[in-house]
Amino acid sequence: MNLPNLKEAKVRTNKDIKIISDDYKVPSSMKTIGKNKKYYIKTYGCQMNVHDTENIKAILEDMSFTETLDMESADIILLNTCAIRENAHNKMFGFLGRVKHLKESKPDIICGICGCMAQEESVVDDIKSKYKWVDIVFGTHNLHKLPFILEESLNEKKQEIEVFSIEGDVYENIPVKRDSKYKAWVNIMYGCDKFCTYCIVPYTRGKQRSRRPLDIIKEVENLVKDGYSEVTLLGQNVNAYGKDLKLNYTMSNLLEDVAKTGIKRIRFVTSHPWDFNDEMIKVIAKYPNIMPYIHLPLQSGSNKILKLMGRRYTKEEYIDLFNKIRMSIPNVSITTDIIVAFPGETDEDFNDTLDVVNTCKFDSAFTFIFSPRVGTPAAKMKNDLTEKEKNDRLYKLNELVNKYALLKNQEYLGKIVSVLLEDFSEKDGNLMGYTDTMKLVNVKAPKEYLGKIVDVKITDIKTWSMDGEIYEKV
Ligand code: SAH
Ligand code: SF4
Ligand code: F3S
Repeated sequence: MNLPNLKEAKVRTNKDIKIISDDYKVPSSMKTIGKNKKYYIKTYGCQMNVHDTENIKAILEDMSFTETLDMESADIILLNTCAIRENAHNKMFGFLGRVKHLKESKPDIICGICGCMAQEESVVDDIKSKYKWVDIVFGTHNLHKLPFILEESLNEKKQEIEVFSIEGDVYENIPVKRDSKYKAWVNIMYGCDKFCTYCIVPYTRGKQRSRRPLDIIKEVENLVKDGYSEVTLLGQNVNAYGKDLKLNYTMSNLLEDVAKTGIKRIRFVTSHPWDFNDEMIKVIAKYPNIMPYIHLPLQSGSNKILKLMGRRYTKEEYIDLFNKIRMSIPNVSITTDIIVAFPGETDEDFNDTLDVVNTCKFDSAFTFIFSPRVGTPAAKMKNDLTEKEKNDRLYKLNELVNKYALLKNQEYLGKIVSVLLEDFSEKDGNLMGYTDTMKLVNVKAPKEYLGKIVDVKITDIKTWSMDGEIYEKV
């Protein structure tokens, strides 16, 4: 057993990061353990978790399990969890209640918890004492060890907890079962060293570790060979890519090399304003296959709050960067993340946030009420706001954000845009996909168009999506 430890999770040393390419194995005793058995995975959280789930699926299939989308028929149920806010916590414990119920009638079901909540000391303490029926718990640093963890739990018939609160290394050659045949997630870095005062991620994901450029390029080249059209480069702070490698190779170099692989569409998330430099802007503007879409989290428009958050930029610097991006990259769309009701946020601070939204007129924004996370500095800061005040601020912010989202979308009416048709739409007989600027479009098109990048004429606009039809040149 290895338990998470909050103090150890905070540690950052100068220790060199190891690239480990040969640590994934399935012991022979586990290769057919899943024969005629099914797995079900529920995933919470960000794209990184979604991509981790793609790894976990491939690992389970290496043990002969097959996937089911129906939890009731599963022999192994895994919850890949997120710890970013309280409601992510609540969702996971709510779901666990349903699994417990199922396990009462089918005691042989294996239940496992992984992901960011598994990295939290307080959560694992709870699982150990109150959820003894959970069979396995593993963290973000050792998901490739799942076959061994499962083997141990089955052999010993006891709860197996294997979570490491370490800075972490980079593991290559972990198998992956991708959800899409057209677009793929590609990790370019793991962890985060920014330690924004509200955020749990540096504790759950460890130190910033960049993958080697050649490993990333090779992965993208293979995706091109396999017919993929789009890659999204993933990291908590992609703009800081490479800083830990000491190779004098940064995000702008990587973007340029990925662009040269010829993949049709490149996206990247998330960009911290702090590390966004002119070189990056130049490269994005230069290569047509780097999509003109940037997610640039603001968090707050108040300099006082930004300082308390540890974001290391001011409102003015954010707006300058925003304008520079807008002016240098034609047709760019910019989205953001905003937290309201951070400890100490006054009406005036909140108005500063509204002011930035009015200045920047974001294409869209994810908005959140501050949620105290155990172990982070902001959780200890005094917060005088009532629940009503918090909700009112969120409501007011959302109204403004939605207004601009609709206005931005309206600029698309009647225009011809390029869309990668990636799936069936919820509307009958339609396909759906995203424009290069990351606008969701439902397109009237036969299913033969699935997987293609097509010209679409926009016929109708909503706040969160658009409708369109295939545009044929005459
Ligand atoms: N690495 C990204 C953010 C990842 S978390 C960045 O720095 O931009 C995604 C978003 O969740 C954050 O941008 C922030 O807006 C929100 N968030 C993170 N911690 C939070 C907390 N404790 N309470 C409320 N929202 C939070
Ligand atoms: Fe969290 Fe800040 Fe790191 Fe983003 S940059 S993951 S908000 S600590
Ligand atoms: Fe959640 Fe972990 Fe992502 S906390 S947002 S799943 S990095």
